[in-house]
Formats: sequence, C-alpha cells, structure tokens
Amino acid sequence: MSQLRAVALNELVLDPARLYRDAWGLLTAGTREDFNSMTVSWGCFGELWGKPVTQVFVRDSRYTFEFMDKSDYFTVCFFEKKMRPQLMVLGSQSGRDMDKMHASGFTPVFFPHGIAYEEAVLCLVCRKLYAHNFSKENFYDQEIYQEIYGEGGFHREFIAEVEKAYVRA
Ligand SMILES: Cc1cc2nc3c(=O)[nH]c(=O)nc-3n(C[C@H](O)[C@H](O)[C@H](O)COP(=O)(O)O)c2cc1C
Repeated sequence: MSQLRAVALNELVLDPARLYRDAWGLLTAGTREDFNSMTVSWGCFGELWGKPVTQVFVRDSRYTFEFMDKSDYFTVCFFEKKMRPQLMVLGSQSGRDMDKMHASGFTPVFFPHGIAYEEAVLCLVCRKLYAHNFSKENFYDQEIYQEIYGEGGFHREFIAEVEKAYVRA
C-alpha cells in the first residue's frame, strides 16, 4: 500500500525557491504504459486565474517535452536530499537512451491523474492550463537570451493548476 497520503492544499507550507532550486523536483508526464521523468530546478508557485498554480520550464530537446505536450496532467515530486544522486541521473541522461526508471530504483505510483513516486516526500498533481515558448523578441534582458538560448532551442513554459498534493504518511 502506498505511503503517500492526500493533503488539502491549504495545509501545505511551500517555499518555492527552496523546493525547486534547492530540493529539485522530478517532473513526470505520460500514461501508465508510457511515461517519462526528468529533474527540474526551475519552477514557480503562485496564484493565477483564481487558482493555485505552478510553472515549469521544459526545453524542447528533452524527451519529457513530448510527454508534456501530449498529457493533460503532470506531476512534480520532491525528495529528501539523500536522493540527489538518483535525481542527478534522471537530470543528466535521457529516457530516449536508457530505462531511466529502472536505473533510478524509484517506484511509480499511479494516481487517477498522473504518475508519481513512492519515495517522494511531496507529490503535486498538476493540470495543464497554458503553455507558451520563450522567444528572443520578448526578452527585455537580451543577455539572458544569449546565455541560455544563444545556441538554439527554447524552453516551453507550462502553467498548471495544482489540483492535488500528497505527502509521505
Ligand atoms: C538539477 C537539475 C535541474 C534541471 N532543471 C531543468 C529544468 O528546469 N528544465 C529543463 O528543461 N531541464 C532541466 N534539467 C535538465 C534535464 O533534467 C535533463 O536534460 C534530462 O536528462 C532530460 O531527460 P529526458 O530527455 O528523459 O526528458 C535539469 C537537470 C538537473 C540535473
């Protein structure tokens, strides 16, 4: 039986910068039969359109990008710091080239919407609301554009409603 229990969103005290930047997240999209996960450390939480939202930024070259595009839902899972080695593997190798889940040793949990991991301390189930691609003309700070996108590619921003949260029991 899963150790993850559902909690009301207003019970959560989230420190967005700490969660994404310091704890890193594991973003997962797809179906029970076919899904993929990648590590993310760029992300935001907030309120938009009267809903609690998160934003994640997925580069077009990622295999996960294809799953994000096709899925109505995705999850972001957060882990204890001791899981960093696994998150480093999931954030440096592509699911195109390896069986990531087998290599990470994480145990998938299949929610009615979204796939999370048993080893996580916090899992957020997110429903996509909006997506758009960053573009050169819209950067007020062209130095960032040059530094991050100067050699090609872009990130797609996904804004999603945080519908459900699960924490370790
Ligand atoms: C700590 C860390 C944070 C990362 N954050 C992001 C991110 O926010 N957005 C992104 O597109 N890639 C990010 N990456 C890179 C992807 O996780 C990496 O390219 C991954 O191998 C993609 O896997 P995939 O091809 O199976 O989707 C991060 C990697 C690490 C190690």
